[in-house]
Amino acid sequence: MAKNILIVSSSLRAGSNSELISKEVERGAISAGNNVEFLSLKDKKIDFCIGCLKCQKQGKCILKDDMAQLIEKVNNADTLVFSTPIYYYEMSGALKTFLDRCNPLYIRDYHFREVYLITSSAENSETVYQRAKSGVEGFVECFPNAEFKGVFSGGGLTNPKEIKTHDEILERAFAFGTKI
Ligand SMILES: Cc1cc2nc3c(=O)[nH]c(=O)nc-3n(C[C@H](O)[C@H](O)[C@H](O)COP(=O)(O)O)c2cc1C
Repeated sequence: MAKNILIVSSSLRAGSNSELISKEVERGAISAGNNVEFLSLKDKKIDFCIGCLKCQKQGKCILKDDMAQLIEKVNNADTLVFSTPIYYYEMSGALKTFLDRCNPLYIRDYHFREVYLITSSAENSETVYQRAKSGVEGFVECFPNAEFKGVFSGGGLTNPKEIKTHDEILERAFAFGTKI
């Protein structure tokens, strides 16, 4: 059955490798018959969570920024795909801020059931993305109706658009997208 997939791309730089990988995952997922919305955080205003917990009474955040609309996309998708460059062996600050701001969903009847992670890094290893994976797994653990389903990692990518010389990663990304 076709899924409604939301891809959240958190790299803020032009020529982002993780964004280009995520676009291939999107192409794969569309080719498999799914509906995909691609959301880049590049032009979005998303402030830090201030931890007031008012959202746990009201189901919405008191901060007035783009997250008011974006959180509804997270709530309504069947499948979430978070994409991040690896920064200091962790997810980007932009993605962490986005996840923190999803806290209003904690008390809501959120729709999403599956969560994936895409990473891009300079180092090409199985260990480089483990802390980012663990962070997203921690997010999923707080949403018991959802399950963490897997990671796609592209390594050996330092400069903007470097992914364009790595066809094998892009092919793997497309195949990953077809199986979401
Ligand atoms: C602040 C910062 C920290 C980084 N830390 C790591 C790291 O710990 N390990 C690594 O392999 N690459 C690290 N990198 C490199 C990026 O992960 C890599 O260039 C990645 O492909 C960038 O993805 P993007 O093009 O989607 O932004 C770091 C880059 C920056 C800017």
